[in-house]
Amino acid sequence: MSTVPSSSHDAELTQEKIRAIRRKIERRNSVFSDKRFLDSLFLPSSVIGREKQTESILEFVMSVRDGLVVPFVSVYGRSGSGKSTVVKFVCQNLSDLAEYTFVNLRKSRTVFGCASLILSELGGETPHQGAGINRVIEGIEKKITTALDLSKKNLFVLVLDEYDAIFSDSRGKPSDFVYKLLTLEEEMRERGLFLCVIGISNNALSQYELDDRVKSRMGSSEVFFEPYSKDDVLGIISDRAKKAFAVKIEKEVLEYCATLSSDDHGDARRALDLLRVAGEMCDGKKITVQNIDSAQQKITKDRISIIVSSSSYHSRVLIAAICSNALSSGHPWTSTSEIHKKYLKTISSDKKPLSYRRIVDLLVEIENSGLVESRTISRGRYGYGNEYKLRTSPDLIGPIVSEEWWNSQVDLKVRRDAVEDLKKQIETRSKNNPFRSVYKNMMKADALMKKYGK
Ligand SMILES: Nc1ncnc2c1ncn2[C@@H]1O[C@H](COP(=O)(O)OP(=O)(O)OP(=O)(O)O)[C@@H](O)[C@H]1O
Ligand SMILES: [Mg+2]
Repeated sequence: MSTVPSSSHDAELTQEKIRAIRRKIERRNSVFSDKRFLDSLFLPSSVIGREKQTESILEFVMSVRDGLVVPFVSVYGRSGSGKSTVVKFVCQNLSDLAEYTFVNLRKSRTVFGCASLILSELGGETPHQGAGINRVIEGIEKKITTALDLSKKNLFVLVLDEYDAIFSDSRGKPSDFVYKLLTLEEEMRERGLFLCVIGISNNALSQYELDDRVKSRMGSSEVFFEPYSKDDVLGIISDRAKKAFAVKIEKEVLEYCATLSSDDHGDARRALDLLRVAGEMCDGKKITVQNIDSAQQKITKDRISIIVSSSSYHSRVLIAAICSNALSSGHPWTSTSEIHKKYLKTISSDKKPLSYRRIVDLLVEIENSGLVESRTISRGRYGYGNEYKLRTSPDLIGPIVSEEWWNSQVDLKVRRDAVEDLKKQIETRSKNNPFRSVYKNMMKADALMKKYGK
C-alpha cells in the first residue's frame, strides 16, 4: 500500500531561474489597460443597483437626526453579493454626517485579536496580550470620542467586516465582546454621542449563538443582500471590463463568465476573478470562452493548493483518504469510519496516527475549509453517523496532495478493474459453454490475481 509521503523536496530556486522567469513575464503580451478594475479589493467609483439595501442602511444611520440610532446593523448575504462594497461606498458618502472606520476582522483569530485590530485601525497602539480586553475597549472608546470631538460630529459608524471571525474563537467569549460594544454605545449615548456598529457577514447576527442579554439589546436591524442574478453579474462585469481591458471583450465571453459565476449563487467576485485570470492566460490575444474555462480550472486548482498546502500532515492524509475512497468505490460519499480505516493505511510509517476523536475534529476543519461537504445518515440501531463528499473531483485534488501517491492509486484502480472484468467474463462464458473455456480462463484470472495481490 502506497502512503502519503511526510515531506516533499522542491528544486532549488537560483538567481538565474528568477532572471529566466522575469524574462518570460516581460515577453508576455498584455490585454489590460488598468487591471485594478478587476481587483476584488478595488472600490468602484459607482455601484450598480443595490438601491434597496443602500436605502435601508442609510435609514438606520440617518435616524441620528431624530436623536436615536440603532446600536448594531447586521448586513448579511452570500459571498460576492456586494456587501463590503456597498457599505464602504455608503460610508464614504456620509462624511458630512458621521465619522467612520472600516475594519476587516478576518485577519484575527481571537476575540482579543479582533478588539486589538479595531483599536489599531482607529489609530491606537496595539496592546500586549496580557493587557486584558477591558483595556482595549477603553482604548477604542477614547479614540472614538476624540475623533468625534475633533470633527464636531455626534455619530461614529464602526464597520466590522467579516465579524463572524469572533465566533471561531472557542476559548474567548464572543457574546461578551458584543455586549461590551453595546455597553460602550450606551455610555456614549449618555454623553450625547452615538455609535452605530455595522457588522457584515454571510449570516445574520441573530443566527449566531449569543447570550439573551445581548440579543435583547440588539434589536433586529438587518439588511439582506440577496444573491445577484446572472444579469446583475453581467451588468457589473461589463462595466468593469470596459475600464480594465485595452481590447473589447465579446458579449458572448462576458455572458459565459456571468453564467459560470451564477450556477450556485450570483457571485460578482468570482466573475471578476475569472475575467482577470482569463486575461492573464490569453497571451495578449482575444479572450475566448475556452480561456474562461481554463481560468475556472486554474482558480479552482489554486484554491485547493492553498488549502492543501496550509493543512497539517494528518489533514492531508485525511483528504487523501477521502479521494482514494471515492476513486476505488466510484461512489462520492464515504463514512467517518471508512475514512479512518483508509487514513491508517495511508499514513506514512514514520508518523504516529491520531485518535479517532481527533480525526472527527479534523474532518470538521476540512469541511470548514470548503473542500468537502458532509451529511448525517441514520445507521438504524447504531444511531447516526457522518458521511463526507469532495466538492471537486478527486482527480483534481489527489495529485495536489501528492502526485506520486495519486498515480499509484489510479494504477491500482486500473488493475483491480481489469481483474473484476475478467472475473465477470469467466462467469458469463462458463455459463454459456461450461466445458470449453472455464479451465483456461480460471487459470488466467488466478495468475493475474497473484500478480496484483488481490
Ligand atoms: N453592485 C456592484 N457594483 C459594482 N461592483 C460590485 C457590485 N457588487 C459587487 N461588486 C464587485 O464585486 C466584488 C465582490 O464584492 P464584495 O467584496 O462587496 O462582496 P461581499 O458581499 O462583501 O463578499 P464576501 O461575503 O465574500 O466578503 C468586488 O470587486 C466589488 O467591487
Ligand atoms: Mg466582503
